[in-house]
Amino acid sequence: MRNPLSNPHIGLLKYGIREIVDTAQKLGELDSNFKFISENIGDPIAKGWEVPPFLKEIIIEEVKKDGDKVFGYSHSRGLPQARKWVVQYGKRYAPSSTLDYEYVLFVSGLGAGISAMYHMLPEGARVIQPTPSYPTHASMESFAAKKDSISYNLDPNNGWQPDLNNLEQQIKEHPEITGILVINPNNPTGAVYSKETLEKIVQLAEKYHLMLISDEVYFRMVYNGYHYEQLTEIAQNRVPLIVMRGVSKDVPWPGGRCGWLEFHNVNLDPDFKAYAEAVKKRVLMEVCSVSLPQFILQALYNHPDFENWIKNYNAELEKNGNYIAEILGNTKGMQVNRTNGAFYMMPLFEEGLLNDKQTLHLENESIRTFIESEVNKPNFPLDQRFTYYLLAKTGICVVPASGFFSPYFGFRLTTLDRDDQRRKSTYGTLSQAISEYLSS
Ligand SMILES: Cc1ncc(COP(=O)(O)O)c(C=O)c1O
Repeated sequence: MRNPLSNPHIGLLKYGIREIVDTAQKLGELDSNFKFISENIGDPIAKGWEVPPFLKEIIIEEVKKDGDKVFGYSHSRGLPQARKWVVQYGKRYAPSSTLDYEYVLFVSGLGAGISAMYHMLPEGARVIQPTPSYPTHASMESFAAKKDSISYNLDPNNGWQPDLNNLEQQIKEHPEITGILVINPNNPTGAVYSKETLEKIVQLAEKYHLMLISDEVYFRMVYNGYHYEQLTEIAQNRVPLIVMRGVSKDVPWPGGRCGWLEFHNVNLDPDFKAYAEAVKKRVLMEVCSVSLPQFILQALYNHPDFENWIKNYNAELEKNGNYIAEILGNTKGMQVNRTNGAFYMMPLFEEGLLNDKQTLHLENESIRTFIESEVNKPNFPLDQRFTYYLLAKTGICVVPASGFFSPYFGFRLTTLDRDDQRRKSTYGTLSQAISEYLSS
């Protein structure tokens, strides 16, 4: 008899950010008047951001200059000139960096890099995840390990900073922990970490001989008076460190699928070097990552309009985020931390406020029947129940915090919407829906 095709660990792969879109699609089929308002995905294009003209011009110029070359395969680890650029450019932010371009690996989006990293860990080695977590990290790490993730808490009562006592306790309790993942600025919480916090994380890595993985894909998106502290600089010559950066969030081009992994301090630890070589091998199996963005990296980041673009981007994100934080922060029953970096916020329901009887009135019978059949499934998380009713009643699509492996009930939204009127209307409606739901 044939072996089964279904993977018994598939339940470890969760991506609530997109799973809720299937529910929205079903609602659209049931009611042709259903209007979907996407607050779930961090895609600037979907939220009305135009691709800056300078980026389009650079792409056109590149195709003219290098011709058909840009359509071909590139070096399996990334074009040497692009990897050398990563090294040189990184020194602007972390002057003491000794990164070698042979330890820079281009990947087709950090999503692909995340998968490669965790799958090349030796059996039994675990990377502790923050919770709430970005689901690709938590899912891929646990899927590779064939076990639930091990996590440390981000503290909503301390501006979503990592709970370092909890982190150390988990490290002590789980000797299989080999690395610590840090996502800063953070998705899904919008927090930016202080220098003291990062220094303490490096000290923990030193004390327990762990490697650090620093997902810095949002490092340019920092505002509200916050400053991005470079972990590369703090960890220099102290601990093995993988830095993850990319193009997806710097300009509205997430479909360009361009990210890279930087292996810092490889000479500190032969075992870390061997792991870096293993990840290189895994990347080699993919032939190459998307070529075009690699050709234009230098022109993009050195363009005279780039810094201005980032400045305006941050100014808008700050304005949008603070507006939303104010409305939801003034909504009874919610605990809200402002967004200080990236473009997400995770408002929480105050403890004990949610139950499995709460509803929003749904007039359309087929929609009501569908939603009821979904939310009454066994073990349906209480915050997911809220997001389903919200979606069905208002069309507003946010992602339940439970979709981010969160120990607290709440939801994640994006602060990307550029349209002031629409934002006002969306969050006014959301605030009202929360009040109705909590008092139902
Ligand atoms: C923290 C974090 N890491 C990685 C990614 C994946 O980025 P990419 O588009 O490069 O795959 C995202 C995407 O939202 C993210 O939020």
